[in-house]
Amino acid sequence: MKRREFLKKTAALGIGSALLPATGFPESSRDQGAAKGPVVIVSGNGEVAARHALKQLQQGGEVLDAIIGGVTLVEDNPEDITVGYGGLPNEDGVVQLDAAVMHGPTHNAGGVAAIEGIRNPAKVARLVMERSDHVLLVGEGAKRFAKAHGFPEENLLTDKTRKIWLKWKETLSDQDKWFPGPDDEYSELLREYRHNYGTIHCSALDANGDLAAVTTTSGLSFKIPGRVGDSPIIGAGLYVDNAVGAAGSTGRGEANLTNLSCFMIVEFMRMGKSPQEACLEVCRRIVDHNRLPHLRHKDGRPNFGVNFYAVNRAGETGGAGIYRPSRGYWVGDAKGVRELEMGYLFERREE
Ligand code: GLY
Repeated sequence: MKRREFLKKTAALGIGSALLPATGFPESSRDQGAAKGPVVIVSGNGEVAARHALKQLQQGGEVLDAIIGGVTLVEDNPEDITVGYGGLPNEDGVVQLDAAVMHGPTHNAGGVAAIEGIRNPAKVARLVMERSDHVLLVGEGAKRFAKAHGFPEENLLTDKTRKIWLKWKETLSDQDKWFPGPDDEYSELLREYRHNYGTIHCSALDANGDLAAVTTTSGLSFKIPGRVGDSPIIGAGLYVDNAVGAAGSTGRGEANLTNLSCFMIVEFMRMGKSPQEACLEVCRRIVDHNRLPHLRHKDGRPNFGVNFYAVNRAGETGGAGIYRPSRGYWVGDAKGVRELEMGYLFERREE
């Protein structure tokens, strides 16, 4: 059967789990209970996304429209310098963005990595999923795909992020010819964001019990050009199994790339752990696997942070980080939108 006919046929039939072959999991461990949506879960920088997505879902909106609409508000906001337009650039002063989406009912996904000049990578990721036979497009190819779909190309570096980048460049070394300017508000911002992996994650369970997730980021500040983090990688920066739950992450992407953390969270939920326990268990795994000396404090603990957010099919949510996160995560459900505390393994400590 030709691909186009196959797609038409599966669309006409509906891609319900009844049509899928058995996976070898007993039904009891695959189905984590009756769905109780809509429920939205978002990382700490995403209150506006939580409010938007919940409203959309409560009005009967489609789950991907709801969550991508939510994170788009943050991508468009230059005040959030870790995502989308106005995100911190790479070491060349160029903003390179990563994003992915995953759709529970079809178990399909799309992502873009190191895309330049396009402010809404989450929307492009969705188009990769829905309008191509691929899952991940990178760099120039991702940009050309976005432009083919009508996305305008623009300079994503704002005056603010250019000044922070310039401060980074000028203070990087005393062996080069760049002289640092005066200590000012951009020096302060540089101190705060020098090693920043800021990202926004949003997952949702809709009223039909369907799950979806999106993660979008400008990645590690001042990264080597071409560096790709966990956010556009399915299983690392996000994962959904419609029969179990969804998970996403913010923080050091390299730790999630080498542990497939979000896939593991969903698998722990499949085994019966609560979302919070599943997130904590993956934090423990990362700490156990963290062997490289340059990534460890003297006491052996990681010198980086990673945070996780998860929701199961019953609508239970949880969040946890390796270190006590500076803020909670946002949940939106029948009780409204509120910030909940994250679990953690260790108190934050200075070394
Ligand atoms: N978690 C975002 C990144 O590492 O790029």
